[in-house]
Amino acid sequence: MIRVVQGDITNLHVDAIVNAANTTLLGGGGVDGAIHRAAGPALLKACKNIGGCPTGEARITPGFDLPARWVIHTVGPVWRGGDQGEPPLLESCYTRSLDTALDHDIRSIAFPGISTGVYGYPKQEAAGIALGVMRHYEDRFEEIVVCCFTTEDKKLYDTLLDTE
Ligand code: APR
Repeated sequence: MIRVVQGDITNLHVDAIVNAANTTLLGGGGVDGAIHRAAGPALLKACKNIGGCPTGEARITPGFDLPARWVIHTVGPVWRGGDQGEPPLLESCYTRSLDTALDHDIRSIAFPGISTGVYGYPKQEAAGIALGVMRHYEDRFEEIVVCCFTTEDKKLYDTLLDTE
């Protein structure tokens, strides 16, 4: 099932949380910064061993000090107006993250709004892409959680789910 919550993804007790990373995987601000702070320095060490991640792909590490056992790092596209391949790249973030989760027998997974912060992806369009992919995978998970940082974002997802 798909569940929408409002809060800080680093507090969620799910098998895996997804990080909105950048291609270096060396941390940053936003949810990336929050996850690295909560997971501790071992996360950065593990990410350094991976050596980066192309946009639209996903890499997995342990969650270390996080309640979540795993962190799946994915790199969303920077919004450049919508005709530079952003939609399929954002969709790929969700599909690659969920495929990676299936490869690790992960049963519950939480996503932040990939690319909808610093990377500027319009939230409405991004939510439509995210839900479209989640619907396709939801039978293979106990729970797919959309973790919205703000109440506005949660309202956006709730509205989309109600009108499906
Ligand atoms: N929990 C859940 N969601 C969060 C949290 C948090 N602790 N902090 C921020 N968010 C939300 C933002 O409100 C936004 O909706 O995560 C979404 C993604 O925003 P960003 O973190 O800015 O990520 P993104 O837009 O994908 O930009 C990625 O930002 O932090 C850097 O290293 C990162 O360079 C990369 C870029």
